[in-house]
Amino acid sequence: MKKDPTDTPPVTGGWRRLALRTLLWAPWAIALVVGLDLASRFLADEPVGYGSPAEHFKYGSTGGERESGFPYWIWQALPQICPESLPGEGYASLGMIYEPGKDLPVGVSKRFHLGIDRVFLNCAVCHTSTVRDAPDAPPRLVLGMPAHRFDIRAFETFFFECASSARFRSEYIVPQIQAMGGDLSWLDRNVVYPVAIGLMRERLLMLKERFDFVFDQPPWGPGRVDTFNSAKVLFNFPMHQLPEKELLGASDFPSIWLQGPRMLRDDGERMELHWDGNNTHTEERNKSAAFGTGTTPPTIDLRAIGRVEDWLLDLAPPAWPYPVDAAQAQRGAALYAEYCAGCHGAGGRDFSGARVGHVTPIADIGTDRSRLDSYTYELAVNQATLYAGYPHRFRHFRKTFGYANMPLDGVWLRAPYLHNGSVPTLRDLLEPAASRPVTFFRGDDVYDPTRVGFRSDRAADGDTALFLFDTRLPGNGNQGHEGHAYGTELAASDKDALVEFLKTF
Ligand code: HEC
Ligand code: HEC
Repeated sequence: MKKDPTDTPPVTGGWRRLALRTLLWAPWAIALVVGLDLASRFLADEPVGYGSPAEHFKYGSTGGERESGFPYWIWQALPQICPESLPGEGYASLGMIYEPGKDLPVGVSKRFHLGIDRVFLNCAVCHTSTVRDAPDAPPRLVLGMPAHRFDIRAFETFFFECASSARFRSEYIVPQIQAMGGDLSWLDRNVVYPVAIGLMRERLLMLKERFDFVFDQPPWGPGRVDTFNSAKVLFNFPMHQLPEKELLGASDFPSIWLQGPRMLRDDGERMELHWDGNNTHTEERNKSAAFGTGTTPPTIDLRAIGRVEDWLLDLAPPAWPYPVDAAQAQRGAALYAEYCAGCHGAGGRDFSGARVGHVTPIADIGTDRSRLDSYTYELAVNQATLYAGYPHRFRHFRKTFGYANMPLDGVWLRAPYLHNGSVPTLRDLLEPAASRPVTFFRGDDVYDPTRVGFRSDRAADGDTALFLFDTRLPGNGNQGHEGHAYGTELAASDKDALVEFLKTF
């Protein structure tokens, strides 16, 4: 019997149509599944979270990785790729602190973003450090104190030099990552990392050029940064056309304890803080600081910063751990009340005082004026445009004409002293400038409980963080905060008593 072509059994015909349809749709379905998979990888934005606020401060993200983050494995590999650009072994040789069992130093956070783990700096990198009782004693970590051993300029130089080197290529970096146990997938090895390495090199070379003004300054040494000239770079100021006197703003990392009691001063107005008192709002000081952690208005993680901000409101410095001569301290308390309390607060926790949180004019305080001159009216105006359109737009930056009278909580851990870190100990600060050390070593974390400050007499001794600071160089002047009102004319025994009292802060 001749078969009627239309007489196919219905079951088989459905099969064929189904097969055909599947064939037609399969690539789309596969593309969709792969696409969703890639999207879930490359669109994910997941910071590593920490329950405790202290851990969040040390290792939590403020959002900087989104804009500025280094791919985790590149970060890990670079010290092996460019060892000649580091003063010693790994990031620790730049004064970064590794806690036992941690793969990243304090102050470095991690976030899964754009399909890879990315890392960047957070607040703790500049606001946490260590103290030791003796050269062979274990270091104690103190959150909120100035990172007086971290050399951020050497850190930048390391990345800039490495990006300029012929070895900053995937041919060198990817095998190094694999050798370190990176276990990268095919996609990572052949697409993601080569692209990331290329982008990172371009970006570092661009930043190197824009920050080149820094290399005309004397080295900052550990524990210092030029905050506001770096801000001008971010606003695209033509750095080489600025007046020379503006271009030397290197200053000490401050402590950031007790931001709550630092809000209001005796007259009910906000305290003028930052070294030159250029901002009265701790919330703005925090958000402005967040630029230092690589964030920008659209990328800042406000919830994460908010957590740090809240915790800093009443984070207190650790108490002086060595003996105090009570009788001597009591004598010092009277002198402090007479000479210092008006400007620095009634005590280590009581910040009341008629002039606390006010700015003392430069002619009166007489300290090095470079940091003051580095902050300009033009910069204040530009900062006022930051976060424009957001509810937290900056409104309180202003140009001042002196340095701020700040509370002295935890002053024992804030050495070296003055905004440019030019005086190694409290006892030295009570001497007239002519009798203060002309050169000394910065960056030691071994404590000197007699003169109150860190030891400053040790040469390198294998510790790459130690740095010879020269007060004769521009911006490093150790003059000022001198004369009758500042206690430098007191008898030696009175100065000793004052220092004894300041130990209790
Ligand atoms: C790159 C180093 C660096 C990083 C990172 C950094 N800071 Fe700071 N911070 C500084 C320096 C330097 C100053 C002093 C600026 C000045 O007045 O010249 C400062 C000042 C401050 C102050 C004002 C202190 C005072 O009382 O005058 C606060 C508050 C602060 N930082 C909080 C933070 C927070 C919160 C973060 C993280 C979001 C952070 N900082 C990240 C370096 C840093
Ligand atoms: C007229 C106000 C005023 C008086 C009085 C005064 N100071 Fe100061 N003090 C300041 C200012 C302003 C600074 C910041 C100067 C700078 O960094 O350039 C400062 C800085 C300091 C610092 C350094 C803080 C740091 O973190 O580096 C210490 C310590 C200090 N003063 C102690 C004292 C003592 C002790 C007395 C009393 C004997 C005293 N001051 C008297 C205004 C004053």
